[in-house]
Amino acid sequence: MTIADMVADRLLQRPRGRIARMWWRDMKAHHGIFRDTLEALDLTPDDHLLEIGCGGGTFVKWALETGCRATAVDHSVDMVELAKTNNADAVRAGGLDVVSAPAENLPFPEGQFTCAALMNVLFFLDAPAALAELKRVLVPGGRVVVHTVAPNPPAKVVPPTMAKRMRLYGDDELLACFTASGFTDGHLTRIDGAYQLVIATAKAAGRV
Ligand SMILES: C[S@@+](CC[C@H](N)C(=O)[O-])C[C@H]1O[C@@H](n2cnc3c(N)ncnc32)[C@H](O)[C@@H]1O
Repeated sequence: MTIADMVADRLLQRPRGRIARMWWRDMKAHHGIFRDTLEALDLTPDDHLLEIGCGGGTFVKWALETGCRATAVDHSVDMVELAKTNNADAVRAGGLDVVSAPAENLPFPEGQFTCAALMNVLFFLDAPAALAELKRVLVPGGRVVVHTVAPNPPAKVVPPTMAKRMRLYGDDELLACFTASGFTDGHLTRIDGAYQLVIATAKAAGRV
């Protein structure tokens, strides 16, 4: 493993340690992504949101302001602790659970959530397997919003050392992953053509 690999691993793929905790306490560079994702989710107080790869928990803090309840998941123990600390009131009040778990094997029963958000994490996952697992825990008709990056991003957006660790799906491939995993109504929006950032939305198949 090179030094670049180690940094990418410790800061992005499974953030851990003091620097990672400082970095992810409130990732301001992602605020625009959080806003776009919230808009696409259109949360209501009746929703139970699942966020996968929650990092420091800023997004879920904003989501809770809609009155929904939420569960945030991350496989990094440091990020789980940070997200809990950053949302201590909501955790105490019972409106938020933060759970250490892998996206590929979620510790929840079928149909527990009405909607889900994944930002800057799908590219670390085997998308068809992770989306199939997500579909299992969503109610029929449950909606998902994914923020990810299209293939061949400019080096200033995703450095090549990082890009080679990421699975960047083309538009058709991503839509095919949704369909293969049991989602319908897949739709992609390029939120910034130059940066190739993609918001993907879909619904869990089945009767609502
Ligand atoms: C690049 S950070 C993005 C954090 C946050 N979603 C954001 O956009 O600011 C990726 C996060 O996903 C988590 N993650 C990566 N692979 C995961 C997996 N297989 N299961 C659960 N969490 C994962 C990492 O630990 C990290 O906190």
